[in-house]
Amino acid sequence: MPQLRDATRGRVLFGGDYNPEQWPEETWPEDVRLMKDAGVNSVTLGVFSWAKLEPEPGAREFGWLDRLMDLLHESGIGVVLATPTSSPPPWLGRLHPETLPRDADGRIEWWGGRQHFSHSSAVYRHHAAAITEALAARYAGHPALTMWHINNEYCTFDYGDEAAVAFRLWLRARYGTLDALNSAWGTAFWSQGYDTWDGVLPPRHAHYLNNPTHVLDFRRFTSDMLLECYTAERDIVRRHTPHLPVTTNFMPLWVGQDAWRWAEEEDVVSVDLYPDPRDPLGAQSAALVQDLTRSQARGPWMLMEQAAGSVNWRGVNHPKPRGLNRLWSLQAVARGADAVCYFQWRQSRQGAEKFHSGMLSHAGERGRTFQEVKQLGAELARIGGEVTGTHIPADIAILHDWNAWWAGAQDGRLSTEVDHPEVVRAWHRALWESHLTTDFAHPEHDLSAYELVVVPQLYLLTDTAIDNLLAYVHGGGTLVCGFLTGIADEDDRVRPGGMDARLRELFGIRTLHEWWPLEQGETVECEGFRGTLWSEEIEPEDGAADEAIPYKGGELEGLPAVLRKGRAWYVSTLPEPYALRALLARVAAEAGVRPVLEGLPVGVEAVRRGELLFLLNHGREPVTVEVPGRHDDLLTGASVERELTLGRYGVAVLRP
Ligand code: GLA
Ligand code: GLA
Repeated sequence: MPQLRDATRGRVLFGGDYNPEQWPEETWPEDVRLMKDAGVNSVTLGVFSWAKLEPEPGAREFGWLDRLMDLLHESGIGVVLATPTSSPPPWLGRLHPETLPRDADGRIEWWGGRQHFSHSSAVYRHHAAAITEALAARYAGHPALTMWHINNEYCTFDYGDEAAVAFRLWLRARYGTLDALNSAWGTAFWSQGYDTWDGVLPPRHAHYLNNPTHVLDFRRFTSDMLLECYTAERDIVRRHTPHLPVTTNFMPLWVGQDAWRWAEEEDVVSVDLYPDPRDPLGAQSAALVQDLTRSQARGPWMLMEQAAGSVNWRGVNHPKPRGLNRLWSLQAVARGADAVCYFQWRQSRQGAEKFHSGMLSHAGERGRTFQEVKQLGAELARIGGEVTGTHIPADIAILHDWNAWWAGAQDGRLSTEVDHPEVVRAWHRALWESHLTTDFAHPEHDLSAYELVVVPQLYLLTDTAIDNLLAYVHGGGTLVCGFLTGIADEDDRVRPGGMDARLRELFGIRTLHEWWPLEQGETVECEGFRGTLWSEEIEPEDGAADEAIPYKGGELEGLPAVLRKGRAWYVSTLPEPYALRALLARVAAEAGVRPVLEGLPVGVEAVRRGELLFLLNHGREPVTVEVPGRHDDLLTGASVERELTLGRYGVAVLRP
């Protein structure tokens, strides 16, 4: 199987989306000159080029791309070639309206933006395959080509008629019989029993709450259908270039794709990452996505897109202050990225993203953005040989599963304040702030390599996953579970007792009487800390608990907020950040897991990657960090003994 290292060959890939079709051809030589100046060694071409490549049905306009590929090759810049299938040309929708997706209200998503394709449309798939085939055949032997990038940020839902037919087929494959479907969906409730497959539709706009298992299956179906679109194109390019890796770019912690399943179909896992420069926890939310992506890749991964400055899709869009682009890029490398790429090379003058930054901004080569990009390119070239291909050791796994998210995040639940990704962020943050490096894992993965497994929230757990968790603890592992875990089975049927009986036994819970969700901003007193978001009326098993931290005052006075039985912990609220951090740091220490470095100043992140120790100062003030032993800083060439000072947004990459 081809891998990322076949494309990196000992360098960090540095570059980004290059959309030269927006510019007169006279611009290209200047682009290439500045790319070389900035150390760019890889660009992604063609992401949105379908209308240029196939201006009318069946036409092929490859001349411009030939010239561009040749130019890049002569300049020593590799090409990640994209299939242009995320934005079909207007003629496709005009001639074949059935290729356009519909939302839950039946409204058509017209051309004029992008991603206006129905994953289930046979006509769309036919045209997407044809242009992919033509591209792959033409460029298979081109020496500039290093990798394939399929489509872009697959994210289109479709509730239309052709999707309905595909959904029925998907459901037939899953359930076999209508009786099985009716049972899984609990259609006895509200008179929803289906007597014929033709009666089953996508969960379109309904008068009141849609059936939750119907909605859950539609999410599974959508992820699978988009994945089929991906694998169809992947298989075409693979046939032409079996030696080249294939990827598609994920959005960070995005709800629509079961990214565990998708990652298995990719040679290279890549992600687009746009933390908000103003977010005080931007670095942590980035670290989370980096840890998740690395875990999906089971090794080095590709930062396919980030912004050199501001984006243009938030309410207020802030630029990156001096040094932040470098800091966040090196953070990605510290956490396993072997490619640091951007959307996009040259900032657009036209189109919907003309106020989105580029590596080469409107200010041009004298602009601060480009100057910082250039400095970063030089630094990545310096460290590339030592970092690429190396691994990040982690003794802790955070469990995450899209099925649990999909099932738990529906309407008709007890609190809209419980936002699944925010809960995951809170738990990851507690570990990140304790300098404990974490992987992510799926609840059915082999967990035996980890000393500690943390479950922020897995509302839905399959029987296999529950067996896996029990086996993990019985095998000597330490498990910490947050609230709303193990509530529902695979079909989103609430487990008897309101929470899986074996999990209750594991934690020493006799009865889970009631859930007591909290209002926004409301807290619940617990001994030594305050809980947020949620609380529970739990009756513990007599004498089973080895430890219990009680709620104090109110309805839950004296009942356990936190329970420990052996190496299994249950946390029935979301402790405030300092408290969750303290709890997890303690549990990790007891499980024998040490932080990357002890005694780090606040705001300094430390990550080990292979032999190297990355130190990143997320603060604007200089800090002094004590580092045992003697090291060389690969970025400065200086040797470091016992301590070093990191300036504002400073980074050191230390080799012992
Ligand atoms: C209404 C409906 C019931 C049920 C309850 C739930 O009263 O008539 O079927 O949905 O709301 O509060
Ligand atoms: C995504 C897309 C890009 C671009 C950027 C803007 O990552 O893949 O095409 O729209 O967002 O942030």
